[in-house]
Amino acid sequence: MRLWDLFNTPPSIQDELLTLALMIKVLIMCACFQVLLKVPVPPLKQTLDTYLKCMQHLVKDEQFRKTKGIVEKFGAPGGVGETLQKKLLERRERTTNWVYDYWLEDMYLNNRLALPVNSSPVMVFPKQTFTDYKDALRFAARLVVGVLEYKTLIDARALPVDFARGQLAGTPLCMEQYYRVFGSYRYPGLKTDMLKVHMNCAALEHMIVMCKNQFFRLDVIANGQQLSEPEILSQLEKIVKMSENTKEWFPPVGVLTSDGRTEWTQAREELTKDPTNRESLALIESCLCVICLDESSRVELSDTNRALMLLHGAGPQQNGANRWYDKSMQFVVGMNGICGVVCEHSPFEGMVMVHCSETTTVTPPSSMAELPAPKRLLWKCNPHIQRLMTSSGDRLQRLVNNLDMDVFKFKVFGKDFIKKQKMSPDAFIQVALQLAFYKCTSKLVSTYESASIRRFQEGRVDNIRSATPEALAFVTMITDERRNFSDAEKLKRLRDAINAQTNYTIAAITGMAIDNHLLGLLRISKELKMEKPELFCDETYQTSNSFILSTSQVPTTVEMFCCYGPVVPNGYGVCYNPQPDHILFCVSSFWENTETSSTVFIKALNEGLLEIRDVCNTICFFKLKEKSTCFSYSSNIITL
Ligand code: COA
Repeated sequence: MRLWDLFNTPPSIQDELLTLALMIKVLIMCACFQVLLKVPVPPLKQTLDTYLKCMQHLVKDEQFRKTKGIVEKFGAPGGVGETLQKKLLERRERTTNWVYDYWLEDMYLNNRLALPVNSSPVMVFPKQTFTDYKDALRFAARLVVGVLEYKTLIDARALPVDFARGQLAGTPLCMEQYYRVFGSYRYPGLKTDMLKVHMNCAALEHMIVMCKNQFFRLDVIANGQQLSEPEILSQLEKIVKMSENTKEWFPPVGVLTSDGRTEWTQAREELTKDPTNRESLALIESCLCVICLDESSRVELSDTNRALMLLHGAGPQQNGANRWYDKSMQFVVGMNGICGVVCEHSPFEGMVMVHCSETTTVTPPSSMAELPAPKRLLWKCNPHIQRLMTSSGDRLQRLVNNLDMDVFKFKVFGKDFIKKQKMSPDAFIQVALQLAFYKCTSKLVSTYESASIRRFQEGRVDNIRSATPEALAFVTMITDERRNFSDAEKLKRLRDAINAQTNYTIAAITGMAIDNHLLGLLRISKELKMEKPELFCDETYQTSNSFILSTSQVPTTVEMFCCYGPVVPNGYGVCYNPQPDHILFCVSSFWENTETSSTVFIKALNEGLLEIRDVCNTICFFKLKEKSTCFSYSSNIITL
């Protein structure tokens, strides 16, 4: 009995189905009492079988035969797998969340790539129309007030508990991530970074405002009182004035944080040799958040250009150095109306960023007092540090030049249409992404879709492996120009693909996916100082962890959207935001890779979505035929 059989519905009475049903029942019972369970450790055999099923069609036959042998040996009674599984179960007993640290290090802290584009997602606010820079500062002041109100809720631990929507709706979700929004800071390290979290951020009383690459300390509490909106506005106006004096400019130190993590660690070591720099760093590292007042740029304010400005600041010559990437929240207010948030991803997931962004952009007005001018942060940059800044700037510029990004609003239908087909909108979109990828490359690849595991204590995410065999069966059929398949066959394969995706989703959100589990087995073998198990040295394991397609649903309730870059040089990053009547896709790839193109992918995605819609419309056709109802049908529209 294997979990993967579940992906091939309809299953009869199977052990895994019973396990899953039991898991769901327990989750519902816990929901009634609002208690969160610990993340489970899935059964070893289930994970290994699922792993084989996930990879069989993604590697060559010969390689798969080799992998199968390795996996069987690993999972054999008395084998290495059993020992490691036992240790993982013990770890589960003694920790709140057995996978948390492993996952955090593997996903973020050990990654040496630069944070912009490669790691930090951004939230793009609706385009603002500012009449002048004062208007932009009024917006920034309102934003600061919104942040402070949000912080008040966090300090009081008064945020209402989130409840799951969509699949298995109604269960309460872990709120821990929200409490890391302002109090987190990611310190760079030579081999691994360190995430420091102040769980009590009530004591944090200043923000850092960046303007023209200069840093200013904005105290948000004066005489024991939180600053009002007019007071904040007045302070921001002083900052802008102070930043205009070019004689007092310091070099663009922020650019160092945009570099690879190891490079930034080395530069930081150099910086900290001087006490003035240490003082400035300490102020930045203990701030609530960073406010980046960006210069106008002469680009058209399209969705794509706004997304790019937030992802990398358009390089060191524009706003790319007006950032401090280690800080968890950077609110960007561009004088030309490009506004949004840049997030350091390690403390929390995209949904927390959405909640914070949506809440902080709505605030009421208030009164004012005269305050001392904000303090400018000072730096001492010797020629060596100056050279390091130039190198960091060059590497940032290369990243800017390399990012191929496109924001695409698919307007033909949205999630309402998909729900009417009695299909999960998320699964439908994932199948469409597989189809788009297949159209571009004639193959499927290891795919990552983030699945929230916030139903469990301190839960973050696991992976839904969307490149299912059922998806492959569907996309090969729909793109096959030599054979004619009946509408009924197309519909069946579409349903199979969507059911497989939905079932994997349910497994993942109930803690039964395979990626965290395999990572846990690998990490525990390291802790036991064992020789690395063959399973993790195998080529298939490397392939399975190279996420050429990295996807994530980040829905919003107001008109803003999230985007991020690809996670591998030859990959795509696809963030999507399903709305009732349209779906927004943000597709990214790298120009340096000749096999990828965001424009080509979007074209294929658009075609694929329409083709799947046409397959769905055959359901109406069959139903209407049964009822002998009159209708007319064109390839794009069905009219009753
Ligand atoms: N028929 C009709 N309606 C259906 C349906 C079906 N067969 N299946 C689902 N629906 C409905 C749901 O009830 C839901 O309705 P709602 O809009 O009223 O809430 C809606 O369709 C959406 O459900 P679905 O598309 O299945 O997705 P989901 O909301 O369950 O989301 C995940 C699935 C995997 C995206 C979600 O569980 C998750 O993990 N999200 C977090 C992702 C994340 O962490 N992103 C940030 C990473 S930085």
